[in-house]
Amino acid sequence: MPFFIVRNDITKMHTDAIVNAANRTLLGGGGVDGAIHRAAGTELLQECRTLGGCKTGEAKLTKGYRLPCKYVIHTVGPIWHGGKQGEPELLYACYQNALQLAEQYHCESIAFPLISSGAYGYPLQQAMEVAISAIRAFLETHDMHIYLVVFQKNAVFMASSLVEDVASYIDDHYVETHHDGNMHRILLDEEMEWELEAPKPLPPAATFASAFPKKEKKNLSDLETMLMQTDKSFAAYLLDLMDEKGMTEVETYKRANIDRRLFSKIKTSAFKNDAAYQPRKQTVLAFAIALRLNLEETQMLLEHAGYTLSNSLKFDLIVKYFIIHEIYDIFTINETLFLFDQMLIGA
Ligand code: APR
Repeated sequence: MPFFIVRNDITKMHTDAIVNAANRTLLGGGGVDGAIHRAAGTELLQECRTLGGCKTGEAKLTKGYRLPCKYVIHTVGPIWHGGKQGEPELLYACYQNALQLAEQYHCESIAFPLISSGAYGYPLQQAMEVAISAIRAFLETHDMHIYLVVFQKNAVFMASSLVEDVASYIDDHYVETHHDGNMHRILLDEEMEWELEAPKPLPPAATFASAFPKKEKKNLSDLETMLMQTDKSFAAYLLDLMDEKGMTEVETYKRANIDRRLFSKIKTSAFKNDAAYQPRKQTVLAFAIALRLNLEETQMLLEHAGYTLSNSLKFDLIVKYFIIHEIYDIFTINETLFLFDQMLIGA
C-alpha cells in the first residue's frame, strides 16, 4: 500500500527517512523538531549546523543517528497568515522537495508529520489536503511507501460535511450484532495473504474451471457459464474485470493504492489460475474502488475472494457509502476510514 495514514510518534517510524517540521535555522525547536532532535541525539544538531539553515518550502537531508530511520529530511513549512500569502504553494513545496530528496537518496519509504499544522498555525484540514494532494501527485509517477503520521488524531480532524454525512449513513444503516470479538478475529485470521512460496493444491471447483479453456465457454449453458464465473479465481476474475473496464495495470494498482510488486504477484497467480491466493478484504475493496465498480459488481468481486459486504461492520458501511455516492477516490476514503478508526483499503 503506497500511501498510509497512521497515528504514531514520528520518531518511532522505521522508514528509510522521516521528515522534520523545522524552522529556518535548522537548530531545533519544539514540537516535531524537538522530538526528533531529542531522539536522534546531539550529532544531529552538529550536522544541522553545517547546513547553513533552510528556506521555507525547501528541504535538506541529514543522517538519522539514534533514530530508527536512515535519514532525517528537514523542511520548513510556512507560517499561516490567512492563506493569501502563498502558504498553500509553500507547504506543497515542502512535501514535493522532501519527496524528491528522498528519491535522490533511494529511499523506499518515508514518514511525514502534518507540516505547519502545529506552532505555525496552518488549519489542520487544509494542511491535510495540501499534504494529500502533494503525495498523490508524487505517487502518480513514483513508487514509494509514504506515511502521513498523525500525532493526536482527535486534535487533527475537524468534522467536514462529508464526514458528518458518512456518520449519519452509519447511524442509519449500522446493524448492531452481538457476535463476540472472536468472530472478527477469526475473520482476520482467515484474511492472511497467500504465501507465494507455498502454493496449495487447487480446490476441485477451481480445477473444474481451469478444465474448460476460455474458447469453449461460448458453448456452455448460462448456468455453467455463471458457475465458471463463480469458480474463477479472484485474480483471474480481477484481470477480466480490468479488461472489461478498459483499465491498464498501472492505472489499476495506482488507483487501488496497491504496491506494484503485490500486483504483479496477483497477476502471476491469475495466469496460473491459482486459487490459493486469498486477498484481504481491504485489498479486494481497493480494486473495487480502482475499477469504479457499483455495489453489485463489488459484491461479485468480493464473492470471488470469499467475502461479502455487511451492515454490521462500520468498515463495510463506510466503503459502501462511497460506492453508492460514486466517490472513487481512495485517498478520501482512507482519510475517512482513518477518522473512524477503521483499517485502510489497499494492501
Ligand atoms: N510525531 C508526529 N507528529 C508530531 C509529533 C511527533 N512526535 N509532535 C508533534 N507532532 C505534530 C503536531 O501535532 C502537528 O500536527 O506535528 C505537527 C506539526 O507541528 P509542529 O511540530 O509545531 O511544527 P510546525 O507547525 O511546522 O511548526 C514548526 O515549531 O517546533 C517548532 O522548530 C519548529 O519553529 C518550528 C515550528
